[in-house]
Amino acid sequence: MSNLRKKLIAGNWKMNTSRSEAIQLASNVIADSLPKEGAELLICVPLVHLADIGKLTANTHIKLGAQDGHWESNGAFTGEVSVSMLKDYQVDYLLVGHSERREMFADDDARVAKKFAAALKNGITPILCIGESLEQREQGVTLEVLQTQVKAVIDEVGIEAFSDAAIAYEPIWAIGTGRTATPEQAQEVHFELRRWLAEYNPEIADGIQILYGGSMNAANADELLSQNDIDGGLIGGASLKAEDFLTIYSFAG
Ligand code: PGA
Repeated sequence: MSNLRKKLIAGNWKMNTSRSEAIQLASNVIADSLPKEGAELLICVPLVHLADIGKLTANTHIKLGAQDGHWESNGAFTGEVSVSMLKDYQVDYLLVGHSERREMFADDDARVAKKFAAALKNGITPILCIGESLEQREQGVTLEVLQTQVKAVIDEVGIEAFSDAAIAYEPIWAIGTGRTATPEQAQEVHFELRRWLAEYNPEIADGIQILYGGSMNAANADELLSQNDIDGGLIGGASLKAEDFLTIYSFAG
């Protein structure tokens, strides 16, 4: 497996930050970081802040992401925002299938696959979030669970579509709990996942960024990011402080 994959350090702000806090945080991330050969910085901000933050990130090394989007372009879907609307805000990336959306907002594998396809159709790179529960890990079915989640998307768009996508492995038991997968645990899953993807297409498997997410922070990122098959991080809590987020970035690439 090659090590030419760039690291992607992605902040997932979730439903946090007021308008002024968002502008401040993004401004700090931009001002206090430099572009790197081997790594990229991404912030996935709340939808209402996209216009403000997009003005700040335009023409910088920081990529802009959204946390969700509806697959239909428009229609009677009160409260929803479509992926095609996001295009007007220079959104580079879209999180799809985050476990919080799967658990609390009925995003099942079929919907996730449609959102993934809609992102690609609109020239936005999807980050497919997958992960097992603690119960599933204890039952020893982690890999099967992850494969089912990825396969639903492969069945919708084909494996080749993954050349413009990333995957984020986020064990549910590690998200927001302070309980991180050990670097060895995470590496093992990333390695197995890549090996399984290679059965579909070795080139895609070799090139795709597989990020780790779940309580990654300034103290544990170095070891996680130095694993061979961990190509970045999807970072919640620690992305809300520019200093912590950029410390994580300092370990990448
Ligand atoms: P966390 O969140 O870093 O706060 O655990 C990660 C995520 O949910 O993407």
